[in-house]
Amino acid sequence: MSGSDKLIIFDTTLRDGEQSPGASMTREEKVRIAKALEKMRVDVIEAGFPIASPGDFESVQAVARAVKDSTVCGLARAKDSDIDRAGEALKDAASARIHTFIATSPIHMQHKLRMSPDQVLEQAVKAVKRARQHTDNVEFSAEDAGRSELDFLCRVIEAVIDAGARTINIPDTVGYNIPQQFGELIKNLIERVPNSDKAVFSVHCHNDLGLAVANSLSAVLNGARQVECTINGLGERAGNASLEEIVMAVRTRQDVFSCNTTLDTTQIVPCSRLVSGITGFPVQPNKAIVGANAFAHESGIHQDGVLKHRDTYEIMRAQDVGWSDNRIVLGKHSGRNAFKTRLKDLGIEFESEEELNEAFARFKDLADRKHEIFDEDLQALVTETATAMEDETYKLVALKVCSETGETPVASVTLNVNGEEKSGTAEGGGPVDAAFKAIESIAPSGTELQLYSVNNITSGTDAQGEVTVRLEKAGRVVNGQGADTDIVIASAKAYLNALNRLTNPPGRAHPQRGDV
Ligand code: KIV
Ligand code: ZN
Repeated sequence: MSGSDKLIIFDTTLRDGEQSPGASMTREEKVRIAKALEKMRVDVIEAGFPIASPGDFESVQAVARAVKDSTVCGLARAKDSDIDRAGEALKDAASARIHTFIATSPIHMQHKLRMSPDQVLEQAVKAVKRARQHTDNVEFSAEDAGRSELDFLCRVIEAVIDAGARTINIPDTVGYNIPQQFGELIKNLIERVPNSDKAVFSVHCHNDLGLAVANSLSAVLNGARQVECTINGLGERAGNASLEEIVMAVRTRQDVFSCNTTLDTTQIVPCSRLVSGITGFPVQPNKAIVGANAFAHESGIHQDGVLKHRDTYEIMRAQDVGWSDNRIVLGKHSGRNAFKTRLKDLGIEFESEEELNEAFARFKDLADRKHEIFDEDLQALVTETATAMEDETYKLVALKVCSETGETPVASVTLNVNGEEKSGTAEGGGPVDAAFKAIESIAPSGTELQLYSVNNITSGTDAQGEVTVRLEKAGRVVNGQGADTDIVIASAKAYLNALNRLTNPPGRAHPQRGDV
């Protein structure tokens, strides 16, 4: 594929995706997702915003060290301190990129930055030159480009390309643009900026009007050759353009697009599940490509048509995006080696023998309760093991729930709180409510429950339920996850997981709100 035929996929699940309230991920979780993205052959992985906190720095560093086949990118505002921190975090990467940005729209320059356009231009150039001291691979973003003045945008872009930026990213930061207009913007920029041939034009669209994918595709039709996107469309507010939709639209409509990606699309569904499991953001059933119903044909007419000739109603093959029939991979009699090998096939390797032992013990326990263990069960089990290995304040020791027709449900819980066992009992409107109240009687948190959801990991009544709990305290939002064949136990695990996350200091800054 020649340069101009290739569409570069820049995944920002670990950075913009993590800016979704409650979607924060641990370092280990980020490395797992990054490895899955690498396996999918994503070109660039934006691993985080290193200056935001020591934790963010370490996560970017860990991803940079773990990933070999994709470029690893770190975000930096147009400031020396941000750029040097990003350079430091990325120094062990096989291929590193620094992504620096500054806002160029009148509203952002005047009210957020309180800088004149000339000052912004000067700072942008200075930032790109600084980033070039760390790597040749520098991307510049004109934040809120979608509401910026064309002449000024052209001036800034020309200057940063001269300063050494090799990728120019045009974000629709607030999701305000409309496909035709956004496509024209890209076309105009490429035509008007005299040195535009020295850089790849990229787009980064938010979904506030539900147009992120449409805007990105319109930009591609008008010359953009990099798209920034996230798995499941995760991201700030209404999210970013969804990777799976972009990739499959371009691949399916090769009659329209003159470029293509080099992704292994069969990794899309496993990656979607991994991100959903780790972040606790469920995928809606009717979501394109990765929703449970995306390839389900309910109506008799459709089923008849598909059976006679698949193309009557299907424009893509489910297998091409990684949907496979649930395969029984392991069971009660599977040994440690089979367990380890299957996880390796899924791209999961443990950092220590201790972690493998813990996961295997959990697997045996699950296999006693559930005869058929699917890949999805293994993914959930690994997420849980990694969580359990963290230094947790609260651990579930025991839970007993009585639920009977005509009686008020009662739950008794025993927790290990920082090494000390404590028990509590409470009544509730239902068994889950009683379990949460019993936990609160031991560990009063002062939190508000914002979301509670249960999804079955696989099908069948013995499937594990995967529960997400979202808690809010003093403006801080965290998601907790838990999985178990007993959904009340899964709920208690999810609640405790959220409480444990709340006990970790927040300490993370937001790149676009100037609060570092
Ligand atoms: O939405 C946005 O403008 C961003 C930039 C930092 C690229 O996320
Ligand atoms: Zn963004």
